[in-house]
Amino acid sequence: DTPDRHVPRDPRLIRLTGVHPFNVEAPLTDLFNDGFLTSSQLFYVRNHGPVPEVLDSEIPTWELSIEGLVEHPITLTFRQILQQFDQITAPVTLVCAGNRRKEQNQVRKSNGFSWGAAGVSTALFTGPMMADIIRRAKPLRRARYVCMEGADKLPNGYYGTSVKLNWVMDPNRGIMLAHKMNGEPLHPDHGRPLRAVIPGQIGGRSVKWLTKLIVTEAPSDNWYHIYDNRVLPTMVSPEMASKDKSWWQDDRYAIYDLSVNSATAYPQHNEELPITTPEATYNARGYAYGGGGRRITRVEISLDGGKSWRLADIDYPEDKYRDFESQLYGGRVDMYSREACFCWCQWSLSIPVSDLDASDAILVRAMDEAMNIQPRDMYWSVLGMMNNPWFRVTITKNN
Ligand code: MTE
Repeated sequence: DTPDRHVPRDPRLIRLTGVHPFNVEAPLTDLFNDGFLTSSQLFYVRNHGPVPEVLDSEIPTWELSIEGLVEHPITLTFRQILQQFDQITAPVTLVCAGNRRKEQNQVRKSNGFSWGAAGVSTALFTGPMMADIIRRAKPLRRARYVCMEGADKLPNGYYGTSVKLNWVMDPNRGIMLAHKMNGEPLHPDHGRPLRAVIPGQIGGRSVKWLTKLIVTEAPSDNWYHIYDNRVLPTMVSPEMASKDKSWWQDDRYAIYDLSVNSATAYPQHNEELPITTPEATYNARGYAYGGGGRRITRVEISLDGGKSWRLADIDYPEDKYRDFESQLYGGRVDMYSREACFCWCQWSLSIPVSDLDASDAILVRAMDEAMNIQPRDMYWSVLGMMNNPWFRVTITKNN
């Protein structure tokens, strides 16, 4: 039995944590074939607890309070948020910081469940800029952070976290609230009726079922802000992390921007490749993403364990939406600067099967515009987060 009986769910989703809470990813090939925009049904879900049940009739009066270090604390209803603020629509890729954690768990068990490489999805989100909402309450001069809180009641209180106020106020960072996903009201698993969307940062900062924005001088003291979404030094074992709480108090270990990452959807791990004629080619393909609005500038493939690399082609479907948006909203909506990239891209490389013949694995790595590159080696940490070494698929050949 699950407290989420009111939530419709797609049977293709793979459960990663038993029946409840609901944590799922799509099979990587299904996710990839779904295209640049992920349908709400296949979008990965990371829930720490039950999905709040909100009836249609209750949505217009759903309340968001803006409090803390502000001149005018206010409470806005869902209806006011739609009616009184400019509405933006933009594609954003969300990624769970635990994406690819399974590989970490295979090396050494972390304190987290085993995501494959499909803990990432992209949708068109619609709603107001968070900056417009915060501005209405007039933050005081000493304000530095915006704490967010959701309505899901968890063992350690409500889910909450924070981001810096100056990020929220920077239009190039695109931080927004969303009430629609791919043109439809938010799916209950994804925060219905209202969530935060923090582009370029780990999904854990994009609080769902949003009820509060609290402007503060210090980062959030919410349990989930402190004990989740961190990369502790690799020497910290699960035992050390549970005995000595001071490891968790250091905000330098909190993750915000995503790291550069990539994965291969085709071929799948251990997929048997049809080796037909020696002249035939295999079209390898997958995704890549970076953090902080940085564009992926190259994706490289190695068939010889990393000794040599070939350049893959990259497609940036996100760019089409920039033009589309600026037309739609008369230019006002350029929520991205022209340079910022908040979405995954798709790479492909045609490989002569004769080259694959001599190979037992396909490696992929991506680099972003700041020349951040995926490392060869894994950085293991106790929560198993931000795993991004070269992605490896083993291949078998059917000669
Ligand atoms: N917000 C609330 N209120 N409760 C949660 O459990 N999980 C966070 C974030 N926001 C969470 C939340 C985490 S860890 C991630 S990765 C994203 O939501 C996942 O968003 P999604 O389920 O829509 O993909």
